[in-house]
Amino acid sequence: MVKKPGPDLSVKIGSLHLKNPVMVASGTFGYAEEFNGLLDLKKLGAIVTKTITIKPRQGNLPPRTCETPSGMLNSIGLENPGIDKFIGDKLPFLKKLGIPIIISIASEDDPGEFCILAERLDKISAISAIELNISCPNLQKNKLISQDARETFALISALRKLTRKCLITKLSPNVTSISDIALAAQEAGSDAVALINTLAGMSIDVHKRTPKLGSWSGGLSGPAIRPVAVKMVWDVYNKIKIPIIGMGGIMDTESALEFFLAGATAISVGTANFINPGISLDIISGLEKYMADGGIQSLSNIIGKLKECKD
Ligand SMILES: Cc1cc2nc3c(=O)[nH]c(=O)nc-3n(C[C@H](O)[C@H](O)[C@H](O)COP(=O)(O)O)c2cc1C
Repeated sequence: MVKKPGPDLSVKIGSLHLKNPVMVASGTFGYAEEFNGLLDLKKLGAIVTKTITIKPRQGNLPPRTCETPSGMLNSIGLENPGIDKFIGDKLPFLKKLGIPIIISIASEDDPGEFCILAERLDKISAISAIELNISCPNLQKNKLISQDARETFALISALRKLTRKCLITKLSPNVTSISDIALAAQEAGSDAVALINTLAGMSIDVHKRTPKLGSWSGGLSGPAIRPVAVKMVWDVYNKIKIPIIGMGGIMDTESALEFFLAGATAISVGTANFINPGISLDIISGLEKYMADGGIQSLSNIIGKLKECKD
């Protein structure tokens, strides 16, 4: 008997072909080697690395994380070994995996640092895509690039001239209109947008009368932010044409599906990795089952396919 083909989970994001739409979110999966042995890394749709900068960074003062209702606050402050050590020490492991590798980059002071990083990464064939972290809330800056449509447009236009690699722009929820920023990214030549980065937040120890984080405030992630993230994906989906990578509080298959129905082409799993490192693979199996049970052949049949609420 000929076996019926299973549902097709593959998706395309610019030049990037993913065998399934499940990635791990930047900063929650290190450089993947840390998770080796805990799950079969080759089964992931793609890996997004911890954000790297030109120079090494020690990150912010501890404590850098604290629990909040249905979520967590972090203020890691982009601790990373810098591009040279990343290429020398971290990339060889990632290269061997044979799955798409997305490198997240950020600038510290000058947006021109994005150009230097992109030019270097452009020359490395094993790198599939570059994610532009223009939305980190933990850098003690007055304003992020992703909080200004003109600055977003200018940066991505400049980067577009420097690399043919797939460019993914990571957006901040800490804005008045995320869809306006997404549109600026699209018009400047970004291949996709990823949303959302963490929501700015603060938590206080009332007994000590101190903030719970060493840098006072941080970024909120986890299930608490999911409804905000889903709404933002839906808003952006209705404004732009390039693919959306959705994230924010994805904990299981059902929460991943919310993002696809809201218009995401792929999803990233973040905070949930700290609870169950294998959760992304469970979600891949869960999506296969949902599609097989519903007779859904291709993911494109559910992306953005929300129906009117009749009750
Ligand atoms: C501890 C921690 C570190 C993070 N570091 C980064 C980072 O380096 N670069 C980045 O773009 N996002 C970073 N993020 C944000 C996540 O990639 C993701 O956008 C956010 O946490 C929302 O998804 P989640 O609710 O599934 O965690 C970090 C999040 C956490 C919790």
